[in-house]
Amino acid sequence: MRKNIVAGNWKMNKTLREGIELAKEVDQLLKDAVINCDVVLGVPFIHLASVVQAVDSKKIGIAAQNCADKESGAYTGEVSAAMIKSTGAGYVILGHSERRAYYGETPEMLKIKTELVLKHGLKPVFCIGEVLEEREKGIHFDVVKAQMAASLFDLSAEEFSTVTLAYEPVWAIGTGKTATPEQAQEMHAFVRRTIADRYGKELAETISILYGGSANPQNAKELFSNPDVDGGLIGGASLKAADFKAVIDGFNK
Ligand code: PGA
Repeated sequence: MRKNIVAGNWKMNKTLREGIELAKEVDQLLKDAVINCDVVLGVPFIHLASVVQAVDSKKIGIAAQNCADKESGAYTGEVSAAMIKSTGAGYVILGHSERRAYYGETPEMLKIKTELVLKHGLKPVFCIGEVLEEREKGIHFDVVKAQMAASLFDLSAEEFSTVTLAYEPVWAIGTGKTATPEQAQEMHAFVRRTIADRYGKELAETISILYGGSANPQNAKELFSNPDVDGGLIGGASLKAADFKAVIDGFNK
């Protein structure tokens, strides 16, 4: 009833030529393959328009990794939701922990960004997750709940229904230290209950909740086999087409 999704997050990797090449490789690998999930590539802004052209849009969606918290105007260096939409991209990753930690993105800014993304007909992939210290203190559930409440819970039910969530424990991102399948399932079930408390059980059941943080071809299948893990947001393992395809195959029986 809800979609399985595997989304790559290339972060700040790949030149334009390399990015187009990688997108075409992924496209080729998926061409005649049986895949049991939606596939999305999260690429740098300047790659968006070219990568959209390079892949079969029926099989692969394209995401930006951020967008401006302003509609348009004198904001040098920023890229608006309308601009992203005009490239043919369909998604925007928002609230990644690297944006929160290194670029000072606050829950209030992310609330505005989410609203702009939705206004322009794009789908947010909204990242939440605790740092190691918060998990060690045992406040990880509170942290994740607060992140959702502060940025998302003023949305209408209709708006919220287009959001995909990505639970990314910060201590697992790029560290090779994956959450155990049990830790992932426990948090994903909590996230779904939190959505149910705000929007009702029926809507909560339709929301895809992805896991992110050192997911790779070796652990994807086990992670995805959990009832509340509906896919992955994949960093390092999305930079090689064969690895990314192997993660996608985590959804094959
Ligand atoms: P990773 O990154 O797979 O390299 O840990 C995931 C992410 O940050 O989205």
